[in-house]
Amino acid sequence: MAKIKILQKPCQKDAAKRPAVERVLANRKTPEILKEFAKGRYFYIRTYGCQGNVRDEEVMAGFLTEAGFTRTEDASLADVAIINTCAVRENAEDKIYGEIGNFKANKKKNPDFMLVLAGCVMGEDGIGEKLIETYPFISLVIGTHDVAKINDLLAEVIKERKSIINVHSFSSEIVENLPSVRLDNNQAFVNISYGCDKFCTYCIVPFTRGRERSRHLDDIVAECKKLVEEGYKQITLLGQNVNSYGLDLKDGTDFAKLLSAVAETGIPRLRFLTSYPSQFSDEMIDVMAKYENIDHWLHFPVQSGSSSCLRRMARRYTREEYLERANKIKEKMPDIALTTDIIVGFPGETEEEFLDTLSLAKEVGYSSCFTFIYSPRPGTPAANMEQVPPEVSHERFNRLKSLVDDLTAAHSDTMIGNIYEVLVEGPSKRDPNVLSGYARNGKLVNFNGPAYLTGCFVKVKVLESHVYSLRGEMVEDPLVEKARDVVFHMSHDRLLKEYSRLNGEILNDPEIKDMGERLALSKKELALSMGKEDHKEKKASYEELLNKIQNHPLLLNRDSLHEAVEAELLEIRDILK
Ligand code: 5AD
Ligand code: SF4
Repeated sequence: MAKIKILQKPCQKDAAKRPAVERVLANRKTPEILKEFAKGRYFYIRTYGCQGNVRDEEVMAGFLTEAGFTRTEDASLADVAIINTCAVRENAEDKIYGEIGNFKANKKKNPDFMLVLAGCVMGEDGIGEKLIETYPFISLVIGTHDVAKINDLLAEVIKERKSIINVHSFSSEIVENLPSVRLDNNQAFVNISYGCDKFCTYCIVPFTRGRERSRHLDDIVAECKKLVEEGYKQITLLGQNVNSYGLDLKDGTDFAKLLSAVAETGIPRLRFLTSYPSQFSDEMIDVMAKYENIDHWLHFPVQSGSSSCLRRMARRYTREEYLERANKIKEKMPDIALTTDIIVGFPGETEEEFLDTLSLAKEVGYSSCFTFIYSPRPGTPAANMEQVPPEVSHERFNRLKSLVDDLTAAHSDTMIGNIYEVLVEGPSKRDPNVLSGYARNGKLVNFNGPAYLTGCFVKVKVLESHVYSLRGEMVEDPLVEKARDVVFHMSHDRLLKEYSRLNGEILNDPEIKDMGERLALSKKELALSMGKEDHKEKKASYEELLNKIQNHPLLLNRDSLHEAVEAELLEIRDILK
């Protein structure tokens, strides 16, 4: 039997509780025992699921780095390994068993090895105990509300020499001042709220991530400003339902206000995930249309095109209401690319309801869709409803998939021949000469180019559609373009021209040259006269000569331009950045 210390067990029922929420600062003081342990050791994190989990990974990596661990991408080298699980669909549990098994070897090699299980699956009742019983080398089971305590909990494991379970099912805290090691240097995810209040009947999220809690607008904007200063090119604001952001703060803050405030930080690209259709207000549409740095790509999950099915899902809109919002968005932003999530085989789904989904997808003309077969999540209301036979779900899924492929292809085809600005993510894994990146409409574009363009915006002309990605050619290397701009700028700038003319004159002026030589000589004499009788005299003649040079009209003229020229050069440096 494994020795288990339970600090906090999850309780799925408690997840629906709504406690008062307090803003607190993270404890960034690493316990000494962990600092000692971390010396020369490595951590590894494997994340499944959505961007919320990715962001949790960045925060845990931040804590472990502060403790003194080094990150490794080689799981076999890890002294601490974290499996960050996802519970949204399928047999998430089955996936974890295989993954856990892989770490048996680490424990064998290194008795100090610690395996941590984190993420949404850990919120399920009893799962921690079950996993530790089967795999006694699991050191820590931690919930999504507990990531900020990872260092304290690891220290506790070392001290107690027991496996620890610490999974809270709800949180009364919004933790700020979190450390983080971001996974990308050019694009960043920023949480704006945690949890979800919608309780769609198929969804486990409100039970694993708790009720909705919004971060304060000032904290979010400060984080975004820092990212802009650090040179990030793209921010994605994250929330399970971004459109209800701020309503719990009850001070008039809402998503439209937040979105404009973040757009004003000047981040070159801004996007957000995930939207809840009926809460996407006119004001939010207006903000999106107003700011050029907000992408014209919107993930707008419909889940089903049938009003009766939507009612069973407890989605708070009808087909007609969804279409009204989608049409309004398209009207304000004709170039918008809409993507969506669709579930097929939801309990009780009839053929007619399914056909409504197909017709809605066609009517909206999505640029791409994420399609899922309904998978019952324990503890959610839909898991107890009458299930659709798997063969029916699969057959519908294939029909939906074929329509979605057609819609995606049709959208991609409209891009052929046009030029798009692509934010380069880096060379493709298959061919280092090919760069990959996303256009502002969320589509993946590949083109030939040099690797140094990673993180740059590159104009690419789209030539071919490969349905889910596009192939294009670079219109021009933006760095070459910039260098040419600078040369042009410098050669045509009146001020810089005058400055360099004066410099030339100063260099060629015989009088200044003569004075310069005399000054060097006088400086030498001054140095040699230190402590001697004639020192005062030598000093006076040196200063007189220096004064004469400094007041020479040519030098005075040049100096008067100095500040303005410096400002120009800083501007040029910014162009080159
Ligand atoms: N079964 C299938 N798909 C689901 N999703 C959420 N829960 C389930 C489930 N139980 C899908 C929804 C959601 C996306 C993130 O995952 O479409 O928008
Ligand atoms: Fe789940 Fe619905 Fe909340 Fe999305 S809005 S996280 S689907 S409960």
